Amino acid sequence: MKNYIQFVLICGLLCSLACINNTEDVTGPLPDDEVIENVSYSASVQPIFNNACVSCHGSSGGVNLSSYAQLMNSVGNNYGSNLVVAGNADASGLVDKIEPDPQIGGRMPVGGSLTNTQIETIRVWIDEGAQNN
Ligand code: HEC
Repeated sequence: MKNYIQFVLICGLLCSLACINNTEDVTGPLPDDEVIENVSYSASVQPIFNNACVSCHGSSGGVNLSSYAQLMNSVGNNYGSNLVVAGNADASGLVDKIEPDPQIGGRMPVGGSLTNTQIETIRVWIDEGAQNN
């Protein structure tokens, strides 16, 4: 009986250690079962910008990510009006800048990076037509 209790206690200890080490890897590929589709700009894209970009890109001039209208009217110094090319995430300067090794300048946001899920959300929204939805 005493051995059994020790066995149960050790199992519990090992399980809790395993849980502590179970930190989520946000830089790896998306899990296979995570399919992102029908992305809403207002519900899913704008919150990413509000959280990670608007502190620097929230006022007039250049890249303004504070609303759909501001984004679509934005003209970048380098990417011009090709920040969002509706239907083509690969051709969109905005996507180039949030992925590793952009063609021009450093990766956005300055001092960090979005998660793969956030990047995929923005990519899918553009590929689905960059609608004001
Ligand atoms: C701490 C301030 C800061 C934050 C936060 C930030 N940016 Fe930037 N961003 C800059 C600066 C400075 C530049 C100009 C230098 C460069 O292009 O690397 C820039 C340039 C850009 C450009 C290039 C525009 C062009 O055509 O020249 C894009 C697109 C962009 N940012 C998107 C984003 C997005 C999307 C986010 C959020 C995920 C973000 N930025 C967060 C400061 C910031």
